Amino acid sequence: MKFFIDTADLDEIRELADTGLLDGVTTNPSLIAKSGGNILDVIAEICAIVPGPVSAEVTGTETDMMLAEAEVLAAIAPNVTIKVPLTPAGLKACKVLRDQGTMVNVTLCFSAAQALLAAKVGASFISPFVGRIDDIGGNGIDLIDEIVDIYSQYPAIETEILVASIRSPGHVIEAAKMGAHVATVPPNVLRQLFAHPLTDKGLAAFLGDWEKTGQSILEQAKTRAKAAE
Ligand code: G3P
Repeated sequence: MKFFIDTADLDEIRELADTGLLDGVTTNPSLIAKSGGNILDVIAEICAIVPGPVSAEVTGTETDMMLAEAEVLAAIAPNVTIKVPLTPAGLKACKVLRDQGTMVNVTLCFSAAQALLAAKVGASFISPFVGRIDDIGGNGIDLIDEIVDIYSQYPAIETEILVASIRSPGHVIEAAKMGAHVATVPPNVLRQLFAHPLTDKGLAAFLGDWEKTGQSILEQAKTRAKAAE
């Protein structure tokens, strides 16, 4: 499973890119607004940090405006992925952009039918929002299951399922069990994925026992190297 980070916070992106775990970044107009920067600069900086796909969302609601904005965004860097909403205008823009060879992420997907349409217009990624479905009393992970099932019936579909609006490590694990291609996670969820109390407890015990020996791996290596001189 690929891991994207769902933020436009440059400090967070730099820090988490350092882990070597990031395959891409997703942003949306709300995340750009939260970053306080202007979109063209923020996307350029993100693309310079992470070489994988970086989603930048159009804000026009008509196809022509979406395509005009997409041209500007796509010119920022070769790894920009244009994000369009799952509307008739967005799907039309997706088809044009895909025919031009531009990567497209179709966002705001809340049903299997919508996911089927995105695949039909050749979307590179479909973004079902699991957390927002849970928020209204539904089950977002069931939607991932449905989309994985439908896409797997058609080997010609190349659209990757990008699980979005993730709220917890549980969402990531459930989606991974189903074979979803990508999870875009907020920074706090990525950090939670590392954490386990038994890892911390076990490490503290190992280091405590090690300290009692007074040994040092590097010192021993130096002593041996000297002896061999
Ligand atoms: O980037 C789209 C999506 O991940 C938004 O998540 O938490 O605002 O529902 P959220």
